[in-house]
Amino acid sequence: MAPSTKNSVILGEALASEDVNLVFPTEDFSRQAHVSSIQKYGEKYGRSVEDPAGFWSDIASGFYWKQKWGQPVYADNLDIRKGKINIEWFKGGKTNICYNCLDRNIKSGNGDKIAIYWEGNEPGHDATLTYNQLLARVCQLANYLKDIGVGKGDAVIIYLPMLMELPIAMLACARIGAIHSVVFAGFSAESIAQRIMDCKPKVVITCNAVRRGPKTIFLKDIVDAALTESAQNGINIDVCLTFENESALKKEVTKWVEGRDIWWQDVVPKYPVTCEVEWVDAEDPLFLLYTSGSTGKPKGVLHTTGGYMVYTATTFKYAFDYKSKDIYWCTADCGWITGHSYVTYGPLLNGATNVVFEGAPNYPDAGRCWDIVDKYKVSIFYTAPTLVRSLMREGDEYVTRYSRKSLRVLGSVGEPINPSAWRWFFNVVGDGRCPISDTWWQTETGGFMITPLPGAWPQKPGSATLPFFGVQPVIVDEKGVELEGECSGYLCVKSSWPSAFRTLYGDHERYQTTYFSAFPGYYFTGDGCNRDKDGYYWLTGRVDDVINVSGHRIGTAEVESALVSHPQCVEAAVVGVEHEVKGQGIYAFVTLTEGVPYSEELRKSLIKVVREKIGAFAAPDKIHWAPGLPKTRSGKIMRRILRKIASKSLDELGDTSTLADPSVVDQLIALADC
Ligand code: PRX
Repeated sequence: MAPSTKNSVILGEALASEDVNLVFPTEDFSRQAHVSSIQKYGEKYGRSVEDPAGFWSDIASGFYWKQKWGQPVYADNLDIRKGKINIEWFKGGKTNICYNCLDRNIKSGNGDKIAIYWEGNEPGHDATLTYNQLLARVCQLANYLKDIGVGKGDAVIIYLPMLMELPIAMLACARIGAIHSVVFAGFSAESIAQRIMDCKPKVVITCNAVRRGPKTIFLKDIVDAALTESAQNGINIDVCLTFENESALKKEVTKWVEGRDIWWQDVVPKYPVTCEVEWVDAEDPLFLLYTSGSTGKPKGVLHTTGGYMVYTATTFKYAFDYKSKDIYWCTADCGWITGHSYVTYGPLLNGATNVVFEGAPNYPDAGRCWDIVDKYKVSIFYTAPTLVRSLMREGDEYVTRYSRKSLRVLGSVGEPINPSAWRWFFNVVGDGRCPISDTWWQTETGGFMITPLPGAWPQKPGSATLPFFGVQPVIVDEKGVELEGECSGYLCVKSSWPSAFRTLYGDHERYQTTYFSAFPGYYFTGDGCNRDKDGYYWLTGRVDDVINVSGHRIGTAEVESALVSHPQCVEAAVVGVEHEVKGQGIYAFVTLTEGVPYSEELRKSLIKVVREKIGAFAAPDKIHWAPGLPKTRSGKIMRRILRKIASKSLDELGDTSTLADPSVVDQLIALADC
C-alpha cells in the first residue's frame, strides 16, 4: 500500500500512485521500518524544526555523557550580517565518541558481536574483529600514542588504506582526545606535505604498501617524500608509525629512516588492552578533513564531537532503516567523509557489523562486490553512482550469478545518480525489492541532509527526495531570495544541524566568506538544485569551480596550479565534462611556452605532473592544446565557453563578441582532436 501524503507537512500535493516516476517501498518493508509512513515522518520532522533543542536532546540522551550538556542545547549564528558565524551543540557536555562506539556497546552486551569483517584485496584473505577485540586494539594504539606524547588537541595524520588499522587509528585518536586527519591513500606526497604543514601533526601513521587489484602501491615511499618536503619547510615529524602490510610488501624491503620510523607491530601490541578515556567537551574538535574548494589551497574542514556523534548515528539508523541484525557494507574509503561518518562512526555508534574492504570492486572480476555481499550476507549496501555505472557496463551476468538475497537496502552517495543507473541498481542488483537511499550531503555537513527514509515514502530515480530531521533546505535565486514551491536555484540551508562543520582549520575568515557570504542568512552548499511539485529535491551539481569526478571532489584551481607548475605550461584552464562512468571527467586546456610544440610526450608529462602534485584520481582525462584562451578584455577566462567546447556543444557557444580575441574560439575548436 502506498503511503498516503495527506496531512504531510512537507509534500504539497498527494503523490499519485499511478505516477510512473514513483517507486514505492513494498508494504512489508514499510511495516517493519523505523519510519513507516510520510505522516510519521511529518510528525517527527515538524518537531525537529519547531523544537530542535528538545528533539535532539531526546536523541542525545541515548548516548553516554560523563557530564550532561548545559543550556542552551545549541547556539548558532548563520547570518554574517549579525556578526561572527558560530555553531555550537551540546556545549558543556563531556563525552567521548570512541567510548560511545565501543565501551557503551560492549556494556550493553554486544562485546562478542562482530564489529568488523575485513575483506582483503585477494579473495579468501579476510579477518574479523568483535567489539571486544576492536576495543583492545584501539586501546593498545591509544596507549602507545599517549606514551610518545600525543595528547588532547594534538593532530595526527593517518595515511592508510582500508585495513582494519584505519578505523582503529581513528578511534584511538578519538579515545585520547587527539584530532585525526585522515589523508586518502591516493593523494600524492606533495598533498600530504601540504596537509602536514597546515595542521602540524605530532605523528604520521601509515603502512608500507597496499595491493589494490593487481597493483602494489608503495605508500611508505610516498610518505617519506612528504616528510622530506615538510622538513624542508621547517616541519619535522618525529615519529612515522608504519604498519607492516605483509601481504603487499615485506618489512625487510621497506625503505626505512632509523630513529623516525617505527614498526607498528614492534610497539603497539606490547601496550595494555585497556586505556582510560579522555572526556572531551562536545565542542572539542574530533577531526580535520581536507577538501577541495574553488581556490587552490585545500580546506581543513573541522568537525567537533558531540553533535557529530548524535547526528551521524541518527542518520545512519533512519536513512538505512538499520536494525541490529543487519550486516552493513559501505564501499567508501575512510579517506573521505563518507568513510568517516558511515564506515567508522555512524555504524559503530549503532553497534553495527561493518564490512571493510581493502581491494578494488572489479578485482579479480566485476562480480567481486556481489561475492562479498553473499559471503557476509550483507543487508545494507552503500556505494557511489560511479561504481554502479562501471559495473552496469560489465553486464548483468556478473550480478545475477550471485544470490544477493540478503540485501534489503541500497544506498548511493557522491553525485546525482542518473535514472538509468538508479534503475539498474534497483532492478538488477536489488531485484526490484530494495529501496535506494540516495543520500545528499557534503564533507562540510558531516551527515546526510537530504535522503529518503526507506519505507516512509516513494522514491523517484535521481532525486535525493526530502530533508532529514532538523534540516531546513531552501532554494534561493541569484539575489538570495528564497523561492517557494516548484523552483530551481541555489541550495542553501537555514539554521544549524548538530553535525555542521564549525570552521576551516586556522581560517575562520575563509569559512565565513566561502559558505556564509554569498547568500547572507544561509549556509550555501555550492550546489544547484530543483524542487518539484511534490517537494522532492533534485541536485543538479556544483555551481562553483569544483568538479565531481567519481564522487571525488576536485577543485579546478588545484589541477590548474599543478599543470602550470610544469616548466612548459604557461596557463591552464580546467573544466568538468560529462563522463559516462565517472560522472564528470577533467578536461584541461593548456597554453604552452612560446615555441614549444604540443606532442604526445608532452601530454603525458602534463598528466604526470598532476598525478605527482595531487594524486592519480585527479589526472585529466583530456588535455586540449590551447595556443590562446578565450578571455574578456579585462583578462578573465570565459569558462562558460570552454565548457561548451569541451562538451562539443558548439551551437551553444553564445555571444563571443565580448572576448578580447574572438578568433581563439575557432582555433580551439579546430584543435579539439589534436
Ligand atoms: O555536489 C554534491 C555532491 O558531492 C558534493 C560533496 O562532496 P564531498 O564533500 O566530497 O562529499 C561527498 C560525499 C558526501 C556535494 O556538494 N553530492 C554528494 N552526494 C550527492 C551529491 N550530489 C547529488 N546527489 C547526491 N546524493
